[in-house]
Amino acid sequence: MAGKRRHVSTRFCFNLKLPLILFISVSLSCVVVLGALFSLHCNYNNSLSSSSSRVTRSPISRVFQGPPKIAFLFLVRRNVPLDFLWGTFFQNGDVSRFSVYVHSAPGFVLDDSTTRSHFFKSRQLTNSIQVSWGESSMIQAEKLLLEAALEDPANQRFVLLSDSCVPLYNFSYVYDYVMASPRSFVDSFLDVKGGRYNPIMSPKIPREKWRKGSQWITLVRSHAEVIVDDDVIFSVFKKYCKRRPPIDFRKGKLNLKLQKQHNCIPDEHYVQTLLAMHGLEAELERRSLTYTLWNQSATRTEHKGWHPMTFSYANASPQRIKEMKGINHVYYETEYRTEWCRTNSTSVPCFLFARKFSQGAAMRLLSEEVIGHFEISAMLDTPP
Ligand SMILES: *[C@@H]1O[C@H](CO)[C@@H](O)[C@H](O)[C@H]1NC(C)=O
Ligand SMILES: *[C@@H]1O[C@H](CO)[C@@H](O)[C@H](O)[C@H]1NC(C)=O
Ligand SMILES: *[C@@H]1O[C@H](CO)[C@@H](O)[C@H](O)[C@H]1NC(C)=O
Repeated sequence: MAGKRRHVSTRFCFNLKLPLILFISVSLSCVVVLGALFSLHCNYNNSLSSSSSRVTRSPISRVFQGPPKIAFLFLVRRNVPLDFLWGTFFQNGDVSRFSVYVHSAPGFVLDDSTTRSHFFKSRQLTNSIQVSWGESSMIQAEKLLLEAALEDPANQRFVLLSDSCVPLYNFSYVYDYVMASPRSFVDSFLDVKGGRYNPIMSPKIPREKWRKGSQWITLVRSHAEVIVDDDVIFSVFKKYCKRRPPIDFRKGKLNLKLQKQHNCIPDEHYVQTLLAMHGLEAELERRSLTYTLWNQSATRTEHKGWHPMTFSYANASPQRIKEMKGINHVYYETEYRTEWCRTNSTSVPCFLFARKFSQGAAMRLLSEEVIGHFEISAMLDTPP
């Protein structure tokens, strides 16, 4: 498995009796342990999204009837593995208050044979691209999701989710929490030790604007627009923020050269840096809504790896879930900053979502009714 990631700069600080090897830290990327690159094809037929929204998005398109919606944006490799859980989450929600978009492999279609929940049917973008872990195609996919969701003026909040993310509350709780805040929730901090900043990016990206943080963000509409409209910073990232390839012994001496290459993980820096450059940090809650449990493995081959731990049926106990939901502050080591979790000035639990959950762990959340009531029969009328 790939996905070794040094991540020492932020840790949560609270009293949980966890084994010493476990560290809890702000999430950096849902795809870390999934690791393998996902290779997909291209298809430009386009119904859910449009590449012309940059031009057509006008003030008039911001007028909408009915309640504001949250757009749930799923960045997945093929299907949505936890669709049964999200399906129940949406079932217990109000259909006029949310929308669903999925970026999957180009050509992959969500239909009766590929999803168990009707909320996901045909919700895949039809202009999706080939995505590789740690490359700018990941940011491009996020931009495509945001662009598609901006087409609906009722979408006022945008939640980015991976295929292993789960909700920790019912729909109405999530809706009220996110909507109560006029700010985006973006984990963002000074990246002082990382060395990911490449001086060659200057002056387009000055060092003091360089930020790091979790890919799993929740945005207000104006910030989603900033991200979709940006080409300048994105092109700098495409050129100079690249993942250093892992050592490949078949390449022999070429490795020496490759390992000197600058290492950068675009999806851990792009949104944070872009919003900082636009002077928008005062409009952020600078934390992620997605909980990740980090495991610093100490094995010889993985000596500097921080792995997000995957929750299985066995360790997604009600007690564990309760502990996640009880966290009310986050400590950012590089800034000596304690983030007391708030939405619209009211103290709240920090996390609405969590990763990485296996299907078994998600099934347990469902049966414990963490996200609300569920009918077993609702699961049975669906194809395998
Ligand atoms: C949703 O969850 C909240 C908090 O856990 C609870 O107070 C509320 O009654 C639930 N709402 C529904 C509709 O189940
Ligand atoms: C935020 O809090 C203020 C003061 O408590 C309140 O008047 C306002 O309605 C709240 N905003 C939202 C969106 O809930
Ligand atoms: C942490 O990672 C190590 C090495 O990958 C693994 O052996 C261990 O089981 C993990 N711990 C937990 C609690 O997942």
